[in-house]
Amino acid sequence: MPVTPRLEGKVAIVTGATRGIGLAIVAALVEQGVDVIGTARTDEHVKEARERVAAAGATATGGKRGRFEVRIADVRDYASVERTMSAAADLFGGLDILVNNAGIGSFGEVAAQPLEQWRDTIDTNLTGVFHGCRAAIPHLRRRGGGWIVNISSLAAKNPFAGAAAYCATKAGLNAFSEALMQEVRYDDIRVSCILPGSVRTEFAGTHDGVGTEWKLAPEDVARAVVDLLMHDPRSLPSRVEIRPSKPRK
Ligand SMILES: NC(=O)c1ccc[n+]([C@@H]2O[C@H](COP(=O)([O-])OP(=O)(O)OC[C@H]3O[C@@H](n4cnc5c(N)ncnc54)[C@H](OP(=O)(O)O)[C@@H]3O)[C@@H](O)[C@H]2O)c1
Repeated sequence: MPVTPRLEGKVAIVTGATRGIGLAIVAALVEQGVDVIGTARTDEHVKEARERVAAAGATATGGKRGRFEVRIADVRDYASVERTMSAAADLFGGLDILVNNAGIGSFGEVAAQPLEQWRDTIDTNLTGVFHGCRAAIPHLRRRGGGWIVNISSLAAKNPFAGAAAYCATKAGLNAFSEALMQEVRYDDIRVSCILPGSVRTEFAGTHDGVGTEWKLAPEDVARAVVDLLMHDPRSLPSRVEIRPSKPRK
């Protein structure tokens, strides 16, 4: 019989947690009783994020809800990433789950791409994940294991013109995840990568509304994260692809 791990009482860090997919992941984890620290660069959406997580809880049924704290931390800055890991230990007693979700889109032709935009994309989407993993692994080892879930993109597999930097970072992230998965699996740390297709968020400056109902909702990706964490300890779905069932033709 498969064992379904209990998530209640676990501690998670979710990067890029104040809106979009990150916020939906926070709400789903809190509902499962996980204590979560979410990060973002700015405090612009922090109040709204707190309210949305609380409101999601008001409609939830079942067991004890987790706590939610927000820290302003930039994944590009290793010192601030390390401080977030220490905050998890200080506030909640340790760390069991890291969700590397923070990411930016940068779109435009290579020949005209500002150098700063290229560096920012690499620093956020790739180096930011390395920072998170490097800082989290000692904490996860101290707990006897845990999970690292990296939010990649189907753009890693299906590169398209005008998105070279973004596609390259996500393809790199897939390779990084798989290598890391092999490195830490015998420490009982499972590493997985989720590759969503189009999701209805404000990603890359888009404001999705009417006519975008065909896209995934952030909650669909959050559900994939929770499903992963529920796997029997012997099982490791190391790559999950999730796409709109009926994309625009
Ligand atoms: N939306 C899609 O269609 C789609 C599809 C596939 C994959 N994804 C991936 O899913 C992830 C989340 O995307 P999303 O659509 O939810 O994006 P989003 O709506 O733009 O939200 C991004 C979140 O990340 C934070 N953030 C950005 N840069 C950060 C940094 N350097 N350090 C810490 N936090 C940072 C933002 O807050 P601040 O701005 O305050 O920092 C915000 O909370 C990304 O990795 C993206 O590549 C998205």
